[in-house]
Amino acid sequence: MKTFYDYYRNQVNLSFEDHPFSNTPKHVWVICRFENQWLLTKHKNRGLEFPGGKVERGETADRAAVREVLEETGAEVDQLNYVGQYYVAGKGGTVIKNVYFATVSRLLDQHHYFETEGPVLLDQLPQSIKSNSLYSFMMKDEVLPQCLNRIKEDYLNL
Ligand code: GTP
Repeated sequence: MKTFYDYYRNQVNLSFEDHPFSNTPKHVWVICRFENQWLLTKHKNRGLEFPGGKVERGETADRAAVREVLEETGAEVDQLNYVGQYYVAGKGGTVIKNVYFATVSRLLDQHHYFETEGPVLLDQLPQSIKSNSLYSFMMKDEVLPQCLNRIKEDYLNL
């Protein structure tokens, strides 16, 4: 397990074990790939980030991941792969989040994208996300690089 601090100085524990903190996490985050590009969304307040959100009552985390990707980007998930789970000890409570890697088969035009401005496709993620004000705080701790390393090893030839 890896322990570090996030953008807001909250402690984060990240693990690539099978659901180490909860079998029923309430949050999901989905690192998405569409036609050799990264697929992000632009959250109206937080900025650019991979799609994700809260698991609804009666929903599994996996279903929530597929739903959030569709709602926030218009993308249909083709394959959803569990990557890991992290635990944030926040000042306003704790958050347990599943991280997934998803490949997307097609992008549909949506009438609205919930709390986001819809899909953003990038050939490459910038090196300097941590100091880039266009990006969400969620992209600015060690969760993203650690998970990307795993994804590159396990699924991509990058
Ligand atoms: P709403 O209920 O939708 O208004 O959102 P919220 O921000 O009040 O609640 P949420 O449960 O999504 O998050 C609570 C707090 O947990 C946030 O303010 C963050 O500090 C923290 N948090 C949530 N998601 C993440 C994440 O992916 N990474 C990190 N580092 N912190 C997170």
